[in-house]
Amino acid sequence: MTFVRACGLGELEEDTPKRVELDGTPVSIVQTEGEVFAVYDICSHANVSLSEGEVDDCHIECWLHGSRFDLRSGKPDALPATRPVPVYPVKIEGDDVLVSLTQES
Ligand code: FES
Repeated sequence: MTFVRACGLGELEEDTPKRVELDGTPVSIVQTEGEVFAVYDICSHANVSLSEGEVDDCHIECWLHGSRFDLRSGKPDALPATRPVPVYPVKIEGDDVLVSLTQES
């Protein structure tokens, strides 16, 4: 599994998603509840950036229609989104947040 540097740990604010591009793939990096998660940044319902939404209870909410995606599985917990968004493995090395674009689920 190949990991690439997404950002520095110090660049993240708790519950504030950070959008990065990794090999042309938009990824939202989220630090919450003592962990760092990486999810595909585009909502599975329409072309909306999830990193512009709010984070709560280990979910990221799409600001347009309100579907909330579990940061651990990528699964939506409410309509209108029905398909999960990809989630990616994260590794922390020193101050570096590393992400593997291998899809976890
Ligand atoms: S665009 Fe995200 S729920 Fe509709």
